[in-house]
Amino acid sequence: MCGIVGYVGHRPALDVVLAGLRRLEYRGYDSAGVAVLVGDGLAVERKAGRLANLEARLDEVGRDEFAGTAGMGHTRWATHGAPVDRNSHPHRDATGRVAVVHNGIIENFAALRAELEAAGVELSSDTDSETAAHLVARAYADGDTRGDLPASVRSVCRRLEGAFTLVVTHADVPDLIVAARRSSPLVVGIGEGETFVASDVAAFIEHTRHAVELGQDQVVLITRDGYEVVDFHGEPAPAKPFTVDWDLSAAEKGGHEYFMLKEISEQPAAIENTLRGHFAGGRIVLDEQRLSDQDLRDVDKVFVVACGSAYHSGLVAKYAIEHWTRLPVEVELASEFRYRDPVLDRDTLVVAVSQSGETADTLEAVRHAREQKARVLAVCNTNGAQIPRESDAVLYTHAGPEIGVASTKAFLAQIAANYLVGLALAQARGTKYPDEVAREFHELEAMPEAVGRVLGTTAQVQALGRELSDAKAVLFLGRHVGYPVALEGALKLKELAYMHAEGFAAGELKHGPIALIEPGLPVVVVMPSPKGRAVLHSKLVSNISEIQARGARTIVIAEEGDDTVRPYADELIEIPAVPTLLQPLVSTVPLQVLAAEIARSRGYDVDKPRNLAKSVTVE
Ligand code: F6R
Repeated sequence: MCGIVGYVGHRPALDVVLAGLRRLEYRGYDSAGVAVLVGDGLAVERKAGRLANLEARLDEVGRDEFAGTAGMGHTRWATHGAPVDRNSHPHRDATGRVAVVHNGIIENFAALRAELEAAGVELSSDTDSETAAHLVARAYADGDTRGDLPASVRSVCRRLEGAFTLVVTHADVPDLIVAARRSSPLVVGIGEGETFVASDVAAFIEHTRHAVELGQDQVVLITRDGYEVVDFHGEPAPAKPFTVDWDLSAAEKGGHEYFMLKEISEQPAAIENTLRGHFAGGRIVLDEQRLSDQDLRDVDKVFVVACGSAYHSGLVAKYAIEHWTRLPVEVELASEFRYRDPVLDRDTLVVAVSQSGETADTLEAVRHAREQKARVLAVCNTNGAQIPRESDAVLYTHAGPEIGVASTKAFLAQIAANYLVGLALAQARGTKYPDEVAREFHELEAMPEAVGRVLGTTAQVQALGRELSDAKAVLFLGRHVGYPVALEGALKLKELAYMHAEGFAAGELKHGPIALIEPGLPVVVVMPSPKGRAVLHSKLVSNISEIQARGARTIVIAEEGDDTVRPYADELIEIPAVPTLLQPLVSTVPLQVLAAEIARSRGYDVDKPRNLAKSVTVE
């Protein structure tokens, strides 16, 4: 939540910062702002609403005012204070010589604000962030840290509670930007004669793929010539250089109208890249993990903790992991798990699934689990993010950057990665013979092709989406692995089309939800394979006929050649026949396309649904 960019180099900072913000806008789009060091002062502009509003404002005031080569920018997802101009970042102190952008929440801001007010400082916004600007300015003006910007920032960081990334500049030191992080993301980009800091490498990937990952409670000083990392006490601190393994094209729409549509089309590659290298010498190899085979053998219980779509990927995986390993698997929303007293010990494996690797609740769930000695394996799509950093082991999904706010390719990659965890456990525990593990893996390997086939037949779903754009609500039903798919279909529709949507386990219909059925109500039913799960299939056929009898418009997602379902389907969407446990990888795709098309037909921005942001770094 909130995107941050800082730059010191040889190019016009305004252009670099705005281009970076464009790539970070997925992190929040309530307001945007920039500050550029010009002459011996700071030029600042900020505007509520999308980045386009700020750009229009810059055109009005004249971009010449911002002719400097060091600067910073921010795109906001509002926490404290409404999304209006005065709450937009950068925030300045009273002299206007210090500017700060912030991502996160300063939890002790009320006390800090009271202290500043008592000292006669007038605050001009309702944000927690503004306090940091005044505190840095005061530290710089007085006391031990006087005239020393890095020391002033460090002293303020030591006083802040909560999660924060701060980028700070002072007009007195025009070629230096100081940034700090605690539990919020910050990476450094190293170019030739230019250095960047940002919430995400996407902000500078156009200029360099050489990056540095910062640790917890670290401060980085960037200049044209490089960077220096210290801890909050000024001691040199280790930082980890890495090379970004994707390029600018991955962060661009590539001819698609929306990132989400591009990302849906990239799903075969996301699965393929996630599986790559994880089967060698006839064995599943989780080479990025630091858990031994013995550790896996010792596991007597698995928890999957995650939020939103990542949680749904865990619900899918439960069916497979329990089936393959005979281990009990609990799947829990991280926001519930973290405040509960779950029964964990060192033989519990907690799998923390997070695309961004920075979701606040999932991070706290990881900490909660580790405090109780459970081993934590992160399944993450973002190199070096906080959740993998704080876990015992990590299995990266290689979906590439996901910019559309609604998760698509990361979700399918998470399912594939969770399945790898299940197979690794089955292999270590001997609950599957090696040839069975190999067969399951090869079936997974065939999935990119199957997903590609679904993508080739989306025109029918798009037409249906246009027809359904006036619907008031849509229900989704499924059983077994189709149940989490129904939940995911409903979530996509809610977040993209702002439409009432609910997913149900079809067996629950008669326990309440059937009362919602009325003539014309669209109900999407995810059918299991008639061959793989014949019993479930016939139960669902009965469920469809019950809702059809009550006038629902049935939209049935069924395996090719499943003729028994035809009479009950007002609309039949066919998907390739695949093994039952793998069906979510194909059956989710039409639901993503449906939600995107309904949202487009309603005129909504598919990449930036209202009120949302890509990574939820606050509770
Ligand atoms: C829904 C969606 C969210 C995320 C959730 C977890 O389309 O994208 O529900 O899945 O916020 O995010 P990560 O995986 O980054 O922890």
